[in-house]
Amino acid sequence: MKENNRISFGSKFGVYVATVGSAVGLGNIWRFPYLTGNNGGAAFILIYLICVLLIGIPIFMSELIIGRRGQGNSFRVFKNLAPEKPWYFIGILGFFSVFIILSFYGTIAGWTIEYIYLSVKSLFVQTQNSDYTAVFNDFHTSTFAPVVCQILFMIMTAIIILFGVQKGIENCSKILLPILFVILVILCVRSLMLPNSIEGLKFLFYPDFSKITTSVFLNALGQAFFSLSIGMGTIITYGSYVKKDNNLPKTSFLVSLTDMFIAILAGVAIFPALFSFGMSPSEGPGLVFIVLPEVFGQMVGGSFFSLLFFILLLVAALTSSISLLEVVVLFLIEECKMKRWAATVVSAIGATILGVFTTLSFGPLKDVNIFGKSIFDSADFLATNIFLPLSGFFIVIFLGWFYPKKNIKNEITNDGTIRFKLFPIYLFIIKFVAPIAIIFVFLRGLGIL
Ligand code: PFF
Repeated sequence: MKENNRISFGSKFGVYVATVGSAVGLGNIWRFPYLTGNNGGAAFILIYLICVLLIGIPIFMSELIIGRRGQGNSFRVFKNLAPEKPWYFIGILGFFSVFIILSFYGTIAGWTIEYIYLSVKSLFVQTQNSDYTAVFNDFHTSTFAPVVCQILFMIMTAIIILFGVQKGIENCSKILLPILFVILVILCVRSLMLPNSIEGLKFLFYPDFSKITTSVFLNALGQAFFSLSIGMGTIITYGSYVKKDNNLPKTSFLVSLTDMFIAILAGVAIFPALFSFGMSPSEGPGLVFIVLPEVFGQMVGGSFFSLLFFILLLVAALTSSISLLEVVVLFLIEECKMKRWAATVVSAIGATILGVFTTLSFGPLKDVNIFGKSIFDSADFLATNIFLPLSGFFIVIFLGWFYPKKNIKNEITNDGTIRFKLFPIYLFIIKFVAPIAIIFVFLRGLGIL
């Protein structure tokens, strides 16, 4: 469907599923649980929720506003809204983040493909007392298999993007998201039925504030950006496909709440099972690949639940990676006048090449260090904890301090046809609260303050 000669999502529900599809991903099911495990459980979740409410949702809404008002890719919108000013550097910063995140996203999503294969295999072949750590280590440190899996994942992402905004992104999200939700609920019920599952719930919901350190704040803020897909142009890009009658504040709240809810559900699916089998929650990025298979291995019907879980991860990853790739594809289509297929092929190949390095950083390239971190860890840290909050900072500065308030209000209220009573609070947040909070957390987390 076209509006102002641009493509747009077909319906309000389409906007909701596509943006939830982008937000809900590995960030909720792989990253959130292991960060929660590493950062002390409930106290981390509490800080995370505050970051989402105070900073995440206002920035999410700001990106939708910029995208819909600017009607273009995440670089062009700034040229349209602030001609002759250099704000488009926010779009450029976003491209760096997109490529970096796509590279390590493909690595982890690739692992899920291997684990789907392993789960299917174990449905048919009886394996006893597997050493799950060894299985994971053998696989993810090898050269060939993880790279093949990563390439497979990028091919799937590219195929969906080739079909375009409505047929690809919107329709796929409409099919995949309900599947994701049903699988997650089944896993939650299974996990809660295990003996001693209450310990896992306590870990998730009973905060121990002695566990809070300054890096907890930085991790929580980074996770809020990562999980809501903000700070890299994705929501700006999707915003440019949103029709003029969409209620942007409502969409922002609904999507962010759904995203938080799914992350917590993932926690409920994972931690009770972990605690029930006496495993450690602080396993790091390997949490869902080592500890969970071990849990599934001890469970009745474990292979089946394992298969469900890794399909869930793959589905979640796909609806997010398409939103990442679309940022670059739309840029190439609009700025370089490429056809969609050519733009898709070029950007997917670029992201795959970069991704090979991140994937191999667990094996052959494990000794390559950037500032004392592996390629994978530096990519994650740089994009999530530095680039995303930095872009978020400039987005709120742009809207809060440089863009006419009247235009913001018109965009939020659809030219006065809907009411948004929280407008003064929103303005206050994007002018003061969000920028100050980002700077503070940032400097503390980097050990400067
Ligand atoms: N929000 C996604 C997740 O939680 O997995 C990750 C992501 C997607 C980040 C799209 C950024 C983005 F632009």
